[in-house]
Amino acid sequence: MSIEAIVLIGVPGAGKGTVADIIEMSTNYIHLSTGDILRQSIKQQTPLGIEAQTYMQDGRLVPDNIVLKVVMEHLDTGHKHAHYMFDGFPRTLAQAELLNSYFERSKARLNNVFLLEVPKEVSVSRLTGRRICRKCGANFHIHNMPPKTEGICDRCGGELYQRSDDRKETIIRRLQIFQKESTDLVSYYERQEILVKMDSSKAPQKIASSIINLLPKIG
Ligand code: AP5
Repeated sequence: MSIEAIVLIGVPGAGKGTVADIIEMSTNYIHLSTGDILRQSIKQQTPLGIEAQTYMQDGRLVPDNIVLKVVMEHLDTGHKHAHYMFDGFPRTLAQAELLNSYFERSKARLNNVFLLEVPKEVSVSRLTGRRICRKCGANFHIHNMPPKTEGICDRCGGELYQRSDDRKETIIRRLQIFQKESTDLVSYYERQEILVKMDSSKAPQKIASSIINLLPKIG
């Protein structure tokens, strides 16, 4: 197995998914978002999705054992020679340590962890205005990145919807949880000297380019 990986972490609404999509389009990194996989499992009402549903709707973290199962399944059944870009995983110190053990066993390498930073008010405004396509998953914002026709996806014509955890009170809970869990997580990667902090209030293309520019040096 020769897996290499990078991680994008950051407060909800930091732009992890948006930046990851741009990077995926211009590199060989495969975007793996635990949030997207869990939402897909809920949509299909798989046993995993049913277990994760209430946690996600309330804006709480899904238990580590469920998330780890999801990620390991993807890695075990996926390409054995690949570059992965984890979005929103690991999110707790326990997840980071378990990923580290898995990577050591598999001789895989975690190159860098990018921490996307934005002020709280930016995060709240991005999340309350976010709209997603039901059909293709494309991501819009009612002010920052509006679709050409309101409520309709530019890419595939699908209907745009608001995520159930993007209500104001749920957003506040998600931000509080991130604050609580991220301190140990960030310190863990700082100690390994692989953490890179990024100003995520810039345009997504700029943030993605800055990350891409760092990839050849670390690849
Ligand atoms: P997840 O889906 O990962 O949500 P999140 O981390 O809360 O992050 P978001 O997807 O809300 O934000 P983002 O940073 O990706 O921003 P985006 O690019 O969309 O997780 C959801 C839930 O799943 C969790 O609450 C938890 O329950 C569970 N879960 C997932 N992973 C887990 C794990 N590892 N452990 C336990 N539980 C887990 O952008 C947001 C908006 O802003 C968009 O509208 C976009 O168009 C706009 N925007 C983005 N970037 C910019 C920019 N630079 N300028 C202007 N607008 C921008």
